[in-house]
Amino acid sequence: MLSDKRILLIITGGIAAYKSLDLIRRLQERGAKVRAVLTNGGSQFITPLAVGALTGDTVFTELFDREAEHDVGHIRLSREADLVVVAPATANIMAKMAHGLADDLASCVLLANDKPVLVAPAMNSKMWSHPATQRNVAQLKADGLHFVGPNAGEMAEKGEAGYGRMSEPLEIVVAIEDLLSPKDLPLKGKRIVITAGPTHEPIDPVRYIANRSSGKQGYAIAEAAAEAGAQVTLVSGPTILADPKGVETIRVESANAMLAAVECALPADIAIMAAAVADWRVAHDSNQKIKKDGSGLPPALNLVENPDILKTVGHLQDKRPKLVVGFAAETNDLIANARGKLERKGADMIVANDVSPENNVMGGDNNTVRLVTHGGVEDWPKMGKDEVARQLVQKIAELS
Ligand code: C5P
Repeated sequence: MLSDKRILLIITGGIAAYKSLDLIRRLQERGAKVRAVLTNGGSQFITPLAVGALTGDTVFTELFDREAEHDVGHIRLSREADLVVVAPATANIMAKMAHGLADDLASCVLLANDKPVLVAPAMNSKMWSHPATQRNVAQLKADGLHFVGPNAGEMAEKGEAGYGRMSEPLEIVVAIEDLLSPKDLPLKGKRIVITAGPTHEPIDPVRYIANRSSGKQGYAIAEAAAEAGAQVTLVSGPTILADPKGVETIRVESANAMLAAVECALPADIAIMAAAVADWRVAHDSNQKIKKDGSGLPPALNLVENPDILKTVGHLQDKRPKLVVGFAAETNDLIANARGKLERKGADMIVANDVSPENNVMGGDNNTVRLVTHGGVEDWPKMGKDEVARQLVQKIAELS
């Protein structure tokens, strides 16, 4: 995850520059903001127009560009970044960096830089293995710069092969993530399955039974858990929300489909069942639209109980996650009801909230929750659903 990380990408003159266009996209997909510097050499291979169309920002090319200096300035370019990435990095830019030359915008930015630097070399294999280049690489490593690649393979020059190919964009992304995301993430290595949103129980092809759940709280938990390093599967009922970043999202309609998707996502270390699952479904939904029959009598809807997903997961014999968390949305007797659910459903924790209309929880952005465990009750103040999610993830990390 690279949410809101600012990357300054310096593209120097190598044929691998075309891969940097893809790199920009891959970084943006992970939430990063990318700004680019293109050297003269780089612009022989790709155009500032193509780079700018992808970054959606000015492409910085000239050291003595009065307008760019006025807007940003070569010093601020690195100050406003979390990481500087040189991809592709030619033998020439590495030589300049190793010796502190600053005769164009890229080398000047790199000399004035106070942020970590990742270098992705790309050059002919003879240039890479040349003692001068190897001396420069050793110097740059001693100076604390990080490297990814180069890889071995065919060169752009016909018939030549060896080390010198730039790493693929996704390899560079992984190297960037390793540098930017803290290693001690509280849920690193944990698998979590989360349910969220309402379910829709069909009556006929055009009608269904639903509820007012927006899915916001469950989605916020999924995103916070992913940010905390967990591998998250979100099983979501119908919502208008976008898939949370870094989360595998599986969309379902009915309670039965939600249960099946949850079972598929097991085994997991933690289950958080935040969905507002419909308690009942229509026993036999019609495969044709039900019509008024002229009698003035409404059709009778026979309801049957849906499977209880939380209860099923809480009572699993071999695949029960170590920590099972449920929610209790109530309008009265909040704690007593939550305690009852903790027992009945085999959960380790119930996040209880009062969904009386005056609290505007269903669909709203805030939540006031009370955590009910076998050890007692913890009251939390009113917070945004995002903050509830972050604190809940912290709590879950402590317990798991
Ligand atoms: O029984 P009640 O619906 O109030 O319980 C709420 C908790 O149980 C929530 O965590 C909800 O996701 C879960 N639940 C479920 N499957 C159901 C009903 C509720 O997983 N059919």
